[in-house]
Amino acid sequence: MERVFSGIKPSGELHLGNYLGAIRNFVDLQNTAECIFSVVDLHALTVPQEPDDLHRRTLDIARLYVACGIDPAKATIFVQSHVSAHAELGWLLGCFTYFGELRRMTQFKEKSEGQVNVSSGLFTYPVLMAADILLYNADKVPVGEDQKQHLELTRDIAQRINNRFGEIFKVPEPYIPPKSAGGRIMSLDDPLRKMGKSEDPKGTIALLDPPDVIAKKIRSAVTDSGREVYYDEENKPAISNLMVIYSLCSGESLESIADRYGSTGYGVFKKDLADVVISALEPIQKRYQELTEPGRIEAVLEEGRRKAAAIADETLRTFQEKLGIVVPKA
Ligand code: TYM
Repeated sequence: MERVFSGIKPSGELHLGNYLGAIRNFVDLQNTAECIFSVVDLHALTVPQEPDDLHRRTLDIARLYVACGIDPAKATIFVQSHVSAHAELGWLLGCFTYFGELRRMTQFKEKSEGQVNVSSGLFTYPVLMAADILLYNADKVPVGEDQKQHLELTRDIAQRINNRFGEIFKVPEPYIPPKSAGGRIMSLDDPLRKMGKSEDPKGTIALLDPPDVIAKKIRSAVTDSGREVYYDEENKPAISNLMVIYSLCSGESLESIADRYGSTGYGVFKKDLADVVISALEPIQKRYQELTEPGRIEAVLEEGRRKAAAIADETLRTFQEKLGIVVPKA
């Protein structure tokens, strides 16, 4: 059976981009592959976090994984910092990653631009991400398009180490949907920027936004000139983005949406889009509420920690031995 690994960092509230670009595929893959999904809290710490928010969001993401349909009986769900092998392998891989490679990462360039104090954690972040993936010898990594460059670096690091020491790490394949299938959901108030956890909330639909808030955000979403509804990423970026959201939340194809709303004007389309998004999120929000019962998610995470650590510790030990590290007896 193939193994799948992915993670989400608790640096903000989960949004529709996270769901449509990544989590939806996690849910599909759990039926055909051995899946491991992490709440990657150490990644969130690369930029300043309020301790109370970090704590709450870490548990919230785990609950949302389950609420979105990840079944803890099928997939492993755990918190990254609960398995210390992530930080340890991160250090070791950093010794095989070049400064020039990290300096080229576009996400680092974007996030560090104009900042006075940029942490070295933000710079080495892709190395920790490589450690997350390589520890589990994952075959596939489902992510949105923005993580493509980090996955390429992960593959380069794995190949470099395998060339030097023999086949230690599986070289993972990215699993990224095209833009028209959710790989890059754009902001509602600027269709040229991606929807992000740290963007203006007006442009972002959080998975836990109440129905009236969702309806208002969609009503005020930016549209393109003209009034026809059809898919054209280049000339109609705003409407194309809304159509992708409609299509993925309802299961209806882009063609069929264009046929139906082609000439009704944006107003009717947006009103129906709000209903479609609200109905898609309603069952997730309901299940999320049930999971707030004390101790429930903690038990899932403890079981996940045990399973993840068993795999990760073994991979780490194998690599340490290859490197010549004197490994203490267990
Ligand atoms: P993060 O936490 O920023 O985002 C989580 C997942 O959501 C996807 N995503 C999007 N997809 C489509 N449209 C959007 N607007 C959008 N915004 C976010 C992301 O691509 C991601 O799949 N570095 C990762 C977390 C990570 C990780 C890993 C992922 C750490 N270690 C190991 C995979 C494997 C990140 O910052 O994702």
